[in-house]
Amino acid sequence: SMSVQHGDNTPTTTKGTTTNLKTIVIERCRDYIRTVPQMSSNNCDAIWEAFQNSFLGKDPCNVKVEDYDLFITTVQQDIPCNKSLFWSKTSQIAHDFAKATKCLMTLEDTLLGYMMDGLKWCGQQHSKELNYTSCPGWIECEFNPVRSFWRRASAHFAELACGNVLVMLNGSIDTPFNKQSIFGSVEIKRFDSEKINYISIRVIDSLQDRVSCNSMSLEDLGKILKNASLNFDCKDIDKSEVERCINDPIPYSCDCVN
Ligand code: APR
Repeated sequence: SMSVQHGDNTPTTTKGTTTNLKTIVIERCRDYIRTVPQMSSNNCDAIWEAFQNSFLGKDPCNVKVEDYDLFITTVQQDIPCNKSLFWSKTSQIAHDFAKATKCLMTLEDTLLGYMMDGLKWCGQQHSKELNYTSCPGWIECEFNPVRSFWRRASAHFAELACGNVLVMLNGSIDTPFNKQSIFGSVEIKRFDSEKINYISIRVIDSLQDRVSCNSMSLEDLGKILKNASLNFDCKDIDKSEVERCINDPIPYSCDCVN
C-alpha cells in the first residue's frame, strides 16, 4: 500500500533538466496522493510551485540546502513510528525489501522522495526557466540543486523518525558506514533520542561469515550513536537471507532481518 509503482512517466536521461520535469512531478504527485491514504490535504500544483521556487533563477552551483525549506513544509505527510528504513550503498536491496515486505518505508516511498526519485533539474541565474541543456553533476559542485534537495529531504525524513528504525548498510565494502554519505553526514545527525527507541543496524554481506559489525567503520558508527544517547545493535546478515524474504514474502517477512 505504501509503495507506489512509477507509471509510464519514466524519465529519459539528459545532461540538463529531465525532459517533461513538470509533468512527471505533478503526475507522480497525483498518483501518490490517490494511492496512499491520508494524503488528500496535499495540492500537487502548489507543491510544484514551491519546488521550482526553491531553485529557479539561481546559480545551479549555489542552491543551498535551506533553499528547499519552504518546499519541504508544503508537502504534508505523517510518517508512522517504527516504519522508517535508512540505507547507504544498499539502494537496490533496501528498496526491494521495503516494496516486497510492505513493512517499512524508505525516503523514496514518501511523497517527497517518490516525486523526485531519479530526476534531474536546475535553473540558471537571471532567468526563471528550467535549464534543459546542462546541469551540474552530483560531485561537480557541492551545492547543486539535486544534491541539496536530497540532503534537505533526508534531514527531514531522519527528523521524523520515531520508535524503532532499521538501517541497511553494505558489508561488501570497506566502509559500510561512511561519514561522507548522506546517511553518515546528514541523517545520523538528525536522529532524535527522545523519539527514537531503538536503531537496528543491519550490515548486508554477500559473503557468508563476514563480521562487519566488528570493523572499524562500524565502531565509528557505534561511537556516534552512543554519544547521541541512541540505543542500537548491529548484526551481519547474509544477502541471500534478505533476498529470500524479498522473493518469498510471508507474514513473518517483517522480522526477517531482526
Ligand atoms: N552521483 C549521483 N548520485 C549520487 C551520488 C553520485 N556520486 N552519490 C550518491 N548519490 C545519490 C544517488 O541517488 C544514490 O542512490 O544518493 C543516493 C544514495 O547514495 P549512497 O551513497 O548509496 O547512500 P547515502 O549517501 O548514505 O544516501 C542514502 O540518504 O537519501 C537518504 O534516506 C536515504 O538513508 C538513505 C540515505
